[in-house]
Amino acid sequence: MNAFLNPSAWPSAHGVWYHLHLAADTCGPAAVPDAAIVVEQGRIAWVGVHADLPVSYRHLPQHDGQGAWVTPGLVDCHTHLVYGGQRASEFAMRLAGASYEEVARAGGGIVSSVKATRALSEDELFDATVPRLQALLAEGVCAIEIKSGYGLSLEHERKQLRVARRLGEVFGVTVCTTFLGAHALPPEYAGRSDDYIRLVCEEMLPVLAAEGLVDAVDVFCESIGFTLAQTEQVFQAAQALGLPVKLHAEQLSDMGGSALAARYGALSCDHIEHLSAEGITAMRQAGTVAVLLPGAYYTLRDTHMPPIADLRAAGVPMAVSTDHNPGTSPTLSLLLMLNMACTLFRLTVPEALAGVTHHAAQALGLQATHGRIAVGYPANFVLWNVGDVAELAYWLGQRPACSVVRQGRLAVDGMGLHRSGA
Ligand code: NIG
Ligand code: FE
Repeated sequence: MNAFLNPSAWPSAHGVWYHLHLAADTCGPAAVPDAAIVVEQGRIAWVGVHADLPVSYRHLPQHDGQGAWVTPGLVDCHTHLVYGGQRASEFAMRLAGASYEEVARAGGGIVSSVKATRALSEDELFDATVPRLQALLAEGVCAIEIKSGYGLSLEHERKQLRVARRLGEVFGVTVCTTFLGAHALPPEYAGRSDDYIRLVCEEMLPVLAAEGLVDAVDVFCESIGFTLAQTEQVFQAAQALGLPVKLHAEQLSDMGGSALAARYGALSCDHIEHLSAEGITAMRQAGTVAVLLPGAYYTLRDTHMPPIADLRAAGVPMAVSTDHNPGTSPTLSLLLMLNMACTLFRLTVPEALAGVTHHAAQALGLQATHGRIAVGYPANFVLWNVGDVAELAYWLGQRPACSVVRQGRLAVDGMGLHRSGA
């Protein structure tokens, strides 16, 4: 049986993990050499310098972390993980010179993934997604956002969201579902985008929300997506249901989506290559996270950088995510995104690490439970077999071995800790 699917094989959710180096900014501003973490009932009960460990914890099972560097469990805060098929043929079209917009207007793009997703049963869709989730989990992801948006009808959006929920249950990982019914116009609504938005707002969203399938609501606000006015209609429908919003904003052009999203208290604005100064101000005032998606920037060979220096100066929290999707970001490595965020966007390593931990958690409204190693938080942390935590961003296509503790249990053991008796 796959180890992920067999929680009974995991060591207990109680114990002391010692012989660890805590990375800076995970439980305090400075790194903590020779640290220990105490887990009780799946939560962090104590964290600090090993020598200060209270005697009352000495009776718990002791796990030797073998000098590993430790970060909080990673959070991938923007993915389109559940879909059918792949789009390698578009890759060839783009190499031959076609732009993302041209591919989309030629009937490719998102709509071609919609056809492939609609063709699969719920079980087939689940099976297609499992290896993708496993790849992310093997690299330390403990919480993940999964969007719908390749169904574009009540039945098929429901199918995607149900698969996302089931993945969370089967793999024991936190899954936040985001309804992205307004991702593209389905072919049967060609030329009738206002009618489709009405369907999204009046039927799809209320029904799926009532079924408990929606944690947040997103829109693709773009010239090849939906207008600002249509985006606002969807936001109003979300607000009426008490659901938080986020936005695919200013990816290809400045539509003013970020300022609108900020007015609705958005959790995040994502992509934001063309974000304006007004957008930055609005996001800062609303506490909206800027989600940077270097995989899409790279794949589309974009050259228009998000305004990193201005976001930094304004103090807008920056997250980093895979944006995993079959069209513009077919990556399954959040560590590769760390590298690209540093190399392409000039983030510092600490900024990039915050971007896949506590800032990513904030982009999902999970800041009280994820993205930090602190007392009371679920015990989600990653032990990395590296000599310097900067190696997480430094290697290019090389994954340092890691062992992942999720809710206090050793869920992935790439370092072989279990075999060595930890
Ligand atoms: O985040 N921009 C829109 N949505 C996705 C792309 C989806 C696709 O091409 O299938 C994105 O990049
Ligand atoms: Fe996306």
